[in-house]
Amino acid sequence: MKTVKWQEIEWSDDLAVEIIDIDQDHKHLVKHMDALFKACHAGLSAEVIKMLLFQLYRYTREHFAHEEDVMRRQRFPGVEDHRAKHAELIEALDDLIESFEIDPNRQLTEQTLDFLRDWLLHHIMVDDKKIAHHIGAVF
Ligand SMILES: [Fe+2]
Ligand SMILES: [Fe+2]
Repeated sequence: MKTVKWQEIEWSDDLAVEIIDIDQDHKHLVKHMDALFKACHAGLSAEVIKMLLFQLYRYTREHFAHEEDVMRRQRFPGVEDHRAKHAELIEALDDLIESFEIDPNRQLTEQTLDFLRDWLLHHIMVDDKKIAHHIGAVF
């Protein structure tokens, strides 16, 4: 199994969508992912990792609900496609929790997180920025 070289996510303007509370959410989300990866890497107990997995799951759901609310209020036309993408990540996190409960394999969790982090960064830079463009926050 290959070892994942985790790159701590440095916040930069590339990630900012310029909607202040959404940027705040994204910063927290990224921190949750980092904390979880580090806990796996440090070989912390399955209980701690499970707690961090649930925290990440809950926080991701809250953020998505918040963002979907912004989209609805702003009458963003791509809301259904965007929601479908959110549902993909929720499902992937759900699967990750389920597989960790069956087999608390930290290396596998690190690999999945590596993939989910790339997914999230791409989603922020491509999809979430479309919301900002729509409401005129980014020109
Ligand atoms: Fe989003
Ligand atoms: Fe987002």
